[in-house]
Amino acid sequence: MKDKNLFNEQYRYLRTNVKFAGDVKSIIVTSSYFGEGKTSVAANLAKSFALSNHKTVIVDMDLRRPSLRKFYDVDTEIGVTNVVVNKMDYKLAISHDESVWDLDIIHAGAIPPNPNELISSDSMKNFIKILEANYDYVIIDTPPIEEYSDSIILSAICDATILVYKVGETRKKDIIKSVEAIRNVKGNLIGLVKINEK
Ligand SMILES: Nc1ncnc2c1ncn2[C@@H]1O[C@H](COP(=O)(O)OP(=O)(O)OP(=O)(O)O)[C@@H](O)[C@H]1O
Ligand SMILES: [Mg+2]
Repeated sequence: MKDKNLFNEQYRYLRTNVKFAGDVKSIIVTSSYFGEGKTSVAANLAKSFALSNHKTVIVDMDLRRPSLRKFYDVDTEIGVTNVVVNKMDYKLAISHDESVWDLDIIHAGAIPPNPNELISSDSMKNFIKILEANYDYVIIDTPPIEEYSDSIILSAICDATILVYKVGETRKKDIIKSVEAIRNVKGNLIGLVKINEK
């Protein structure tokens, strides 16, 4: 993992909170806007689970601007779209970074022309179900709520949602709007994660 500094006590705390949230396997990490820390939180939470001996996969479901590649040294073009569109076996889409060898990583794959359609498809639901059946935790990185409906659609079909916001950037009214959007689809909001300004 390239961004070691961000891994700290906070993520052990978040991991504990998730464990106490009940029967939760698939977890969406989202935020209101771009650049609020979604991918960092998803990557650190996934690492925290993997290091505590939970079978964990992190999935780049930001099919607009995939960015898990920023966090892991992985050389692959294969990912979510190969599984969901081309019906490839999900196991063939898994890659590893040697610094977090226990963590399975599924990149986005080729950017599709119709991300929203893909996100709402039965094939996507099946993919998530298969991951839930094979892992203790499925951590899903997504695009921002206020820009695309992808994360809200995923909130409705996954077990839990974590909303990230950035101190001094994300406005209170936007946090409230995002919380309401998650609640409107009966998403299970299990935590708000505050990212401090650097
Ligand atoms: N805990 C943190 N404290 C301070 N800054 C952070 C923290 N986590 C992430 N950042 C910074 O916030 C910026 C955005 O991070 P990241 O890529 O994780 O956000 P994102 O919400 O996934 O962005 P995008 O919407 O573009 O996918 C980066 O510059 C990152 O270094
Ligand atoms: Mg991101």
